[in-house]
Amino acid sequence: MGAGCKEAAAEVGIVLPTKDEPRWIQDETRFNDALVAAGYDFEILFSEGSSAKEKENVEALITKGIKVLIICAQDSAGAAAAAEAARDAGVKVICHDRLITDTDAVDYYATFDSISVGALQGGYLVDKATDTGNPLYLYAGAASDNNAFLFFEGAWNVLQPKIADGTFVIKNSSEAVALQDKATLTRDEMGTIIGQITTNWDFDDAKSLAEANLTVASAADKGDVFILAPNDGTARAIADAFAADSDVTSYVVTGQDVEIASVQYIIDGKQSMSVFKDVRLLVTDSIAAAVTYLEGGTPEATNTYNNGVIDVPAKPSVVVTVDKSNVQEALIDSGYYKASVFTGLD
Ligand code: BGC
Repeated sequence: MGAGCKEAAAEVGIVLPTKDEPRWIQDETRFNDALVAAGYDFEILFSEGSSAKEKENVEALITKGIKVLIICAQDSAGAAAAAEAARDAGVKVICHDRLITDTDAVDYYATFDSISVGALQGGYLVDKATDTGNPLYLYAGAASDNNAFLFFEGAWNVLQPKIADGTFVIKNSSEAVALQDKATLTRDEMGTIIGQITTNWDFDDAKSLAEANLTVASAADKGDVFILAPNDGTARAIADAFAADSDVTSYVVTGQDVEIASVQYIIDGKQSMSVFKDVRLLVTDSIAAAVTYLEGGTPEATNTYNNGVIDVPAKPSVVVTVDKSNVQEALIDSGYYKASVFTGLD
């Protein structure tokens, strides 16, 4: 139960996917901060990585009388039933960060610009690469998460021309190699590649996959390598695996979420970059949409995202590259983190 909640009085219910992926602890913390400060009644439940638990949580919140549901899906399609249960009970459904697909029972999507997240990751690798023939290792998020497709799409848009011109050579995905001449991929094509390079957003899966890729790669496929890692948790796992391989001379590896552990890795030179998605903005957007619905209005939208059934109104927030050169300015000076959380900051 979130601080500030009065039992059975919450008008806004918040459902987050899991505490095992550090990103969602950021969202919980920022929701607590914002809603306590604003004096709203609310309740936050976690789905423990299970769509069944997620649906139970939504049903429990409906029973308690919520009017608006803010939900970050464990599984984009798997959450459709929970969204429909809410819709049937007259509850407005706001997708938070992850779009719920395959249903018309969603009202709004509070999100970052996820295509840009992938484009910043891909663009960082491009900026660091010189000459031709640079080994490229690709990794993706969970295929059950619609965002994994958006991130990959954004990265592919930027990387593909540099694969086509020989700057990069894909080393760990025969499916990506088979499609490397295509500037734009269909969702099914992306699904084929993601199926081969998925981390399932899981550190252990990411580590095992990276180790398996390094085992089959020859020394000539290593050297100075470039790694598209989809988020910070998987980036650290993959970076550790590459750092442990004596045939890897140097690596550039991407991430996202500015998790504290990854910011420390960036300061220490063990992760190259992260994408800063200011969760304070996202939480503000979700709450603003919820309040607008409670007051009978329609939240502001600048875009739509198709979820397979309908175009869902959204107002995507901007994202920013963070590396060693701007950690202080982007994350400390902005008040996102306290400098004392880190060691070795100049
Ligand atoms: C989020 C990322 C997060 C990932 C794994 C995605 O849907 O947008 O910020 O790293 O899930 O939790």
